[in-house]
Amino acid sequence: MRIDVLSIFPEYLAPLDLSLIGKSRERGLLDVRAHNLRDWTTDRHNSVDDTPYGGGAGMVMKPEPWAQGLDAVADDIAGNHQGDHERPILIVPGPSGQRFTQKMAAELAQAPNLVFACGRYEGIDERVFDFAAQRYDVRIVSLGDYVLNGGEVAVLAMVEAIVRLVPGVIGNQESLVEESHEDGLLEYPVYTKPAVWRDRGVPEILLTGNHAAIHTWRHEQRLERTAARRPDLWSATQSLRPQRIESGDVQTAQPADAGELLTLTVACYVAEGRDHDSFGLPALNETTDSVREALAEWTTWVLRSQGRMIGSVRARLSGHDWEIGRLIVAPDLQGQGIGRWLLEFAESHAPEQVRSVVLFTGANSKRNLTMYRKAGYRVTGASEHLGVPTKHLAKRISR
Ligand code: ADE
Repeated sequence: MRIDVLSIFPEYLAPLDLSLIGKSRERGLLDVRAHNLRDWTTDRHNSVDDTPYGGGAGMVMKPEPWAQGLDAVADDIAGNHQGDHERPILIVPGPSGQRFTQKMAAELAQAPNLVFACGRYEGIDERVFDFAAQRYDVRIVSLGDYVLNGGEVAVLAMVEAIVRLVPGVIGNQESLVEESHEDGLLEYPVYTKPAVWRDRGVPEILLTGNHAAIHTWRHEQRLERTAARRPDLWSATQSLRPQRIESGDVQTAQPADAGELLTLTVACYVAEGRDHDSFGLPALNETTDSVREALAEWTTWVLRSQGRMIGSVRARLSGHDWEIGRLIVAPDLQGQGIGRWLLEFAESHAPEQVRSVVLFTGANSKRNLTMYRKAGYRVTGASEHLGVPTKHLAKRISR
């Protein structure tokens, strides 16, 4: 990923040489270039601001240095690409922008080129945005409901949030698994040794080794925290009933579930078939009998909400690995964290001796691949299964 930042204080961006971002630059994963906007001024004083039309307090950033700077950067990006390339995204930090979120960070982490334009004073002449839109996908983005003196600090925050989601930047992707805001809930509390510290013990449940119970406890903690600390997030998640899944809603699938499971499987895999231009996928060619037979081979769980089967996942021991498969969520309820919940549920049932969870998915299943990556899985290989390109993924589990 290449990141360009235009600012009148490029030295403000020195922290981008440090820590994870600095290391990623050294490793060639990240190319960060800070530019001084004054390099594109033409007058003796290198001035970048002027008084506002219509009167009012403060100064406004002149359009021409921005036009020159943005053109120069866009030309340079285009020059580094042969033929077609994605339009670079131009992010202009400002308190009147769209709110920066984890979801936006994840989306921006996929972009090959990000350009940040740091405004100062009362802001940038509005016409610059229209001008920039000719070559950039322009986004005005705010960190929150408060006013900073300029965009530089906001750029540091955004770059840190984005860059850690770029594949390869964080070696241990597992640490990205369970994070606040990934699915609209805050994270659960964490503890380390010693078990008793200054008369304070860690919650007993964490010492039991009962991973299914720990999974449920952590989920409850996330719900409680979100309700107490972020009622704004809570009211949004409250309306999503699936966020309130409890372990009791999940049952081991019984032969009598086969018909319903077949229907849900087909409903979920039609999109996969479309994405891969193939309806020969095994999941689309099951019968009630074959589904019933698979129940003997795999431990299969079904998730119900008010009686309706809304999701399922299965797992089995495969050599030394815990193999997870057929993770499905009803199409109308996708994108709400139910898949992650089911995935963690299946992971938490891995037998004690297992150190690695493996699964595979269609190579074109972008959504699945993103979800698994966020859940700490790494691609370990690729193959073809009945004419469909597949990616194999694995994740180490810590005990
Ligand atoms: N620049 C000034 N205030 C800002 C904010 N709240 N977010 C992003 N950029 C800003």
